[in-house]
Amino acid sequence: MRPALLSLCVLALLSACGKVEDTRPGTPVAHRQQAFKTILNTFEPMGIALREKRYAAESFLNNARALEAAKDAPWGYFGADTHYPPSRSRETVWSDASGFARERDTFLAAVSALRQAAERRDEQTVRPAYEAVQASCRSCHKAFKGN
Ligand code: HEC
Repeated sequence: MRPALLSLCVLALLSACGKVEDTRPGTPVAHRQQAFKTILNTFEPMGIALREKRYAAESFLNNARALEAAKDAPWGYFGADTHYPPSRSRETVWSDASGFARERDTFLAAVSALRQAAERRDEQTVRPAYEAVQASCRSCHKAFKGN
């Protein structure tokens, strides 16, 4: 085998070993992680546009709508007994269920407010609404997500 090909195989093997798969019925951990990735994929472009000062009302609104459509997906997959590898949740999701629900509700309200702000097509209006959503991600991750 050519050396380059061999090292590619080793790399593939390493990443396969490093990644723990969710093998439980219904794969709730994989589902909620995928749902958070979708949330990130809709949210991130809005932040980049604002940071790089190239706010474009229509694409921002499309992302805000996509985020609103994605916002409900993770929560149903946090059932009892779903804290196992590869989950990066902290035990507090289950031990402080009401705190987790509060963070979730703050997030849901902020996402709807962001979509409404985006409808106004004005950068000064969307900026604080974007920041409120970002604060809600951070606040929940600080208390409920490990690394
Ligand atoms: C109410 C709490 C809460 C809110 C709000 C929240 N998250 Fe999370 N997030 C979590 C938890 C808990 C996990 C870990 C899930 C697991 O692995 O079990 C997570 C995981 C993730 C992941 C990792 C997914 C993976 O592949 O492992 C990403 C990315 C993420 N969140 C992005 C976001 C973004 C962006 C926002 C805001 C727009 C957000 N989250 C809002 C609780 C939250």
